[in-house]
Amino acid sequence: MTHAEAAARAEFLRTELERHNRLYYVEAKPVISDKEFDVLLRELQDIEVRFPDLLTPDSPTQRVGGAPLEGFTQITHTVRMMSLDNTYSEEELSAFFARLQKGLGRERIDCIIEPKVDGVAMTVRYQNGVLKHAATRGDGQTGDDVTNNLKTIKTLPLRLPKDGPQTFEVRGEVFMPKAGFAKLNEERDEAGEQRFANPRNSTAGTLKLLDPKIVAKRPLDIVFYGLVEASDVQSQSDVHALFDRAGLRKADLIWHADNAEGLLAAIRELDEKRKSLPYETDGAVIKVNSFVDQRELGETSKAPRWAIAYKYQPEQAETKLLAIDIQVGRTGALTPVARLEPVLVSGSTVSNATLHNYEEIERKDIRVGDIVVIEKAGEIIPAVVSVKKEHRKGDEAVVTAPTHCPVCGTAVHRDEEQVVIRCPNPHCPEVVKRRIEHFVSRAAMDISGLGESVIAQLVEIKLVRDVADLYALNELLLARLERVGTKSIDNYLKAIESSKQQDPWRLVFGLGILHVGAGGARKLLEHFGSIDAIASASIEDLTQCPDIGAIVAPSIHAWFRDEHNAALLDRLRTAGLNFAQRTVTAASDKLNGTTWVITGTLSEDRETIADTIRANGGKVSSSVSGKTTYLLAGEDAGSKLDKATKLGVKIVTEAEFRALL
Ligand code: IVH
Repeated sequence: MTHAEAAARAEFLRTELERHNRLYYVEAKPVISDKEFDVLLRELQDIEVRFPDLLTPDSPTQRVGGAPLEGFTQITHTVRMMSLDNTYSEEELSAFFARLQKGLGRERIDCIIEPKVDGVAMTVRYQNGVLKHAATRGDGQTGDDVTNNLKTIKTLPLRLPKDGPQTFEVRGEVFMPKAGFAKLNEERDEAGEQRFANPRNSTAGTLKLLDPKIVAKRPLDIVFYGLVEASDVQSQSDVHALFDRAGLRKADLIWHADNAEGLLAAIRELDEKRKSLPYETDGAVIKVNSFVDQRELGETSKAPRWAIAYKYQPEQAETKLLAIDIQVGRTGALTPVARLEPVLVSGSTVSNATLHNYEEIERKDIRVGDIVVIEKAGEIIPAVVSVKKEHRKGDEAVVTAPTHCPVCGTAVHRDEEQVVIRCPNPHCPEVVKRRIEHFVSRAAMDISGLGESVIAQLVEIKLVRDVADLYALNELLLARLERVGTKSIDNYLKAIESSKQQDPWRLVFGLGILHVGAGGARKLLEHFGSIDAIASASIEDLTQCPDIGAIVAPSIHAWFRDEHNAALLDRLRTAGLNFAQRTVTAASDKLNGTTWVITGTLSEDRETIADTIRANGGKVSSSVSGKTTYLLAGEDAGSKLDKATKLGVKIVTEAEFRALL
């Protein structure tokens, strides 16, 4: 291939890949398979390796490109990024419409109503058809250049279709989808990391990461709502049409209204529907449609006069804070939990709420005995948002961060950022209980029957101090448990015995190494083949493993070098646990070329079913998309079932699945 041929082919491939990306991610109408996409991408990669000068920053091979940054550079916005004024009631919204009428001197004014996506504002510039940069709002004049992080968003085109506008700047909101947020928090729990409070916080936190490789693993997405500096565009409706032509994702729901009644109807309807949108919304944005009208109305120093945000009331309630308990986690993290006088919020009774950490308690000056405002919105766990200080009687108790573990009395450690407080005692009975619970859980070693109360007893009577002690249990020892019959004892021992045969990744996950979730453990064993190989790997070796980055690798490395952990591993080995990955010869190729999503309650846990699918040649994915071949739906299947139905994905029951095999 000559250089000229390579250049032409690379150009063709980039346009083609961008088109397929748009068909898949934005329009959900793919026309080629994953495999065919990968073949094209691979061909482009090969050309870029052979002719490095042909590599362009907008190449689809560069979505997760580049080394971590030292810091963000600043971008000065061509047009200032303003904010919106808020309204909180229908009266205020009607007053806004009356101001429009007065300002424009007519009765009817065409307005557009869009959901107000609760994320992080972003400006994105395209020049000559290519993504030039993306920046945060910052102070409105200059923001952080987060282009590398934004490129990881698959719905964001890196180059535009040739038949549409090529140079313009668009404004949008980066968000984390509700489902992705819930999954991320589950994974953080599993890996012993702090949960994010809500999708907006996790979006903001993710955008601040300097390593795009980590960002690529977070499910960010973007919707666009505005345009600056473009000719031929006369209204917000034209802007929406331009988004469609450019393959930019816009809001899922959009209304028109030209009178106050119509506006109110739209915001009421949005309130009904917003629960089923894939992102969190905190309101509606009402905009005058015509740009001529917009210019006529102008702006104040802060916000345009032609648009306003209508904010929905988050579901809040007031109740009394009875106590602040300390929860001790598996990693020793001490988390404050508010115990409340039970109160009804968003249709459910709330008696506990998260306080996140002690810094927050101090910042909000929350005292025991206070009347507090709690809030529950969407996917968010109930949280204490503020204190009704005017109700104070003077006998409320100030809460201070614990200096010692409430369970074992050991002096606590604070992490570098001084936010997470941990009990450093590996033998703290509460930490031991949480560790054993994690080890036996379905997602890890799946030792069924060993519930919290049995584990609590085992730890309290000192039969179990660590996970290896489980394998030393026998009938005689278990007979010391209270309220446990011989039949149960028999079952426990059988379950413990058969867990010795579990896949070694389950053991690695079950050990509870900080930052190592189930996915990471799986990758480690796929890459290294055995626990011993992981144990002897250097930090550098570890980072060669997919999904193991600069934070996780040192954590794994340190864990295996701790002498207590090494002794624990020896005892587990002696007990006969499985330390090396069996090379699974495919049970069959019956599921070759199929992609599965598993949902609902099934007769076995999801990981086991996923293993079966993989052993028979299928792929397993966590979310339903155009690429899904089958949705395996058990009892109580929820949103995935809805999505699969919408996309026309074939839905199979467990019985049908077994029959396929
Ligand atoms: S229009 C002059 N439309 O809400 C600003 N904003 O509180 C014009 N937002 O800064 C903004 N969804 O980050 C607009 N459909 C939407 C929006 C939206 C979310 C955000 C945006 C804006 C903030 C204002």
